[in-house]
Amino acid sequence: MKAKILVTGGAGYIGSHTTVELQKAGYDVVVLDNLSNSNADVIDGIERITGIRPAFEKIDMQDKEALRNLFEKHKGIKGVINFAASKAVGESVKKPLLYYRNNLVTMLNLLDLMPQYGVEALVFSSSCTVYGQPDILPVDESAPIKPALSPYGNTKQICEEIITDTIHAGAPFKSILLRYFNPIGAHPSAEIGELPLGTPQNLLPYITQTAIGVREELSVFGDDYDTPDGSCIRDYINVVDLAQAHVKAIERMLGNKSEEPVEIFNLGTGKGVSVLELIHTFEEATGVKLRYKIAGRREGDITQVWADPQKANTVLGWKAETSLADTLKSAWNWQLHLREKGIM
Ligand code: UD1
Repeated sequence: MKAKILVTGGAGYIGSHTTVELQKAGYDVVVLDNLSNSNADVIDGIERITGIRPAFEKIDMQDKEALRNLFEKHKGIKGVINFAASKAVGESVKKPLLYYRNNLVTMLNLLDLMPQYGVEALVFSSSCTVYGQPDILPVDESAPIKPALSPYGNTKQICEEIITDTIHAGAPFKSILLRYFNPIGAHPSAEIGELPLGTPQNLLPYITQTAIGVREELSVFGDDYDTPDGSCIRDYINVVDLAQAHVKAIERMLGNKSEEPVEIFNLGTGKGVSVLELIHTFEEATGVKLRYKIAGRREGDITQVWADPQKANTVLGWKAETSLADTLKSAWNWQLHLREKGIM
């Protein structure tokens, strides 16, 4: 068995897929989650895929003593992957204090306790949102950070700064900041996937819920942007591919291969896809027709962004492998699984 890794937010969308990939690579995983936006059944799904039930602790990381107790109970944690955070952009604009408190206090508690328990490596779940609308595309890691468009985005920038400052001040651990583009899809087994509470704000869950009839019609937010078909362009990255990058990051730090104590990697495919292209690829891949209409632009949306993933490809040794069609099929199979189970 390889090292013991704590995955915070491990019952969530990206956290659960990462737990699976860590277990498959031989790591001993402890999952922490407060279940504020997820369900303990996810642990069953992980076990069905890997045959291994990860240790699970229902803890809110804002409670520092509870987090300390976890480190006491699970002695010898070598790495932490911190997914635990609130992530709805619109909600963050309405409830900024909730976002600042949750996303920052949890980070501070973790950074305080990690050295006390000998943790050597921290992976932070960041976002391409830190680049805003980049001046140059594709965007690489040297692009300037733009003022955040929401409290959510601001917490990602601030957490990156807090980690960097803490390490520059001599904290005895390394960190890798992973800037995700747009994660989509589900595990090919359809045992785990994305389960948004209420009306989805992100495109893919809205598409699959429209396809299955939970939502009447998809709104395409704007077809008058300065792009080839007028709709916005993003870099959609398969969630299992994304999860595998976390395993690479942990291996890199624990294997003493980091070139700097804090390293940053963009995680994307390197290919921009428009909203309309995504809809049509979904229809072709699944054979399901989507009802959609062109609606007005959504406030705060940027026109286009896609990654230059060269650094992740060559330095981290990671590459997005899954095709967009297969990724969209996996999202649809997950939606069908939810229907079978009577969840949605
Ligand atoms: C959003 C966040 C980003 C966050 C990411 C997490 C904003 C501005 N950005 O990214 O900070 O890291 O989620 O997943 O909110 N769209 C439609 N109809 C819909 C929903 C979306 O046309 O019903 C379009 C959007 O206009 C956008 C694209 O689909 O062009 C992707 O939207 P979404 O999935 O919400 O992701 P982002 O906005 O890129």
